[in-house]
Amino acid sequence: MRKKLIFLGIETSCDETAASIVQENLDGSAKVLSSIVSSQVKEHKKFGGVVPELAARSHIENIDFIISRALKDARIKLEKIDGVAATAGPGLIVCLTVGLNVGKALAGFSKKPFVAVNHLEGHALSPALSNKIKFPYLLLLISGGHTQFLIVKDVDDYKQLGTTIDDALGEAFDKTAKMLNLGYPGGPAVEKFAKQGDKNFYKLPEPIINKAGCNLSFAGLKTAVLIQSKKIKENKKLRLNLAASFQETIIKILNKKTKVAFSEFKKFSNKKNNVFVVAGGVAANQSIRKSLEELSKKNNFKPIFSDLKFCGDNAAMIAWAGIQRFKRKLLNDLNVEPKSRWPLDKSAPYMKGPGLKL
Ligand SMILES: Nc1ncnc2c1ncn2[C@@H]1O[C@H](COP(=O)(O)OP(=O)(O)OP(=O)(O)O)[C@@H](O)[C@H]1O
Ligand SMILES: [Mg+2]
Repeated sequence: MRKKLIFLGIETSCDETAASIVQENLDGSAKVLSSIVSSQVKEHKKFGGVVPELAARSHIENIDFIISRALKDARIKLEKIDGVAATAGPGLIVCLTVGLNVGKALAGFSKKPFVAVNHLEGHALSPALSNKIKFPYLLLLISGGHTQFLIVKDVDDYKQLGTTIDDALGEAFDKTAKMLNLGYPGGPAVEKFAKQGDKNFYKLPEPIINKAGCNLSFAGLKTAVLIQSKKIKENKKLRLNLAASFQETIIKILNKKTKVAFSEFKKFSNKKNNVFVVAGGVAANQSIRKSLEELSKKNNFKPIFSDLKFCGDNAAMIAWAGIQRFKRKLLNDLNVEPKSRWPLDKSAPYMKGPGLKL
């Protein structure tokens, strides 16, 4: 007889210490019983970015408390869960090690199955925490370290259609915020200030817009923002205009490349009701959500976005990915090591560095 599955998820790949208890219901839908995320934003703010050793120390200090809170909020004891899932990569090794080791210890001690989760698979499957979605679907993953179009054929089965050849989109937002002195973390700051600026004031570059399929590039755009930001110095109005123009240019790039990805996806799947999923921290941006939603509808794709609370890093997505892997018997033993790099599509070419041909 089928039973409901309940997993503990643990996430420490970067600067969020997170734990969550997620249940898969008998109809395959998800129920998040608890999701605790402790952000280290305040600790890293004064450095303008994540300091790995500080982040790791903070994970060590907080992880026990965060896991206890997740269990307590879900009103469940460790003995009652069906398995433990922890992020094993990609990310900062010193940070990953903390959550992965605690997860392995808890699984070993309580004799529960253990799943080492790819953080990107967590993001890729995260929209299913609040929507029922059937495979295959087209995914745009826009986060702090990654920007990719993927066909999600099934759990553990991905085909990369395109990726950034330089900066990730979240990184471009963070750097733009820094150059314009808008605050930290950068993405939400740019979004907030962009609302007050003229989005058509600056004409900024849209790198590789008409070539390289649905691969993307943001480095040239970032340099253009740097050049302009030096010219305008402290002029508040122009800084707002530049933030708005930057965000508008990103929207144009995403729209253009998403259209290419739509036609690539249609070559793969001739279903009528195609689904386009957008996940990762940048998917929280309301202007990006709105424009991609409109574009999807025009192109007969059903748009599905991660719930706002599951766009950025969280452990509910890790628990959910753990349950899905457990169901497919994709378990790990307790000597699994953390990985700093771990692409979802292992056959995809590495698209960074010198000698790249587009
Ligand atoms: N409203 C927003 N608009 C634009 N960007 C945003 C917004 N909110 C968050 N971000 C960006 O999302 C990123 C964080 O997302 P996420 O937590 O998924 O990334 P990460 O875990 O650091 O990277 P990865 O998942 O690739 O390993 C940051 O770069 C942040 O600036
Ligand atoms: Mg992430």
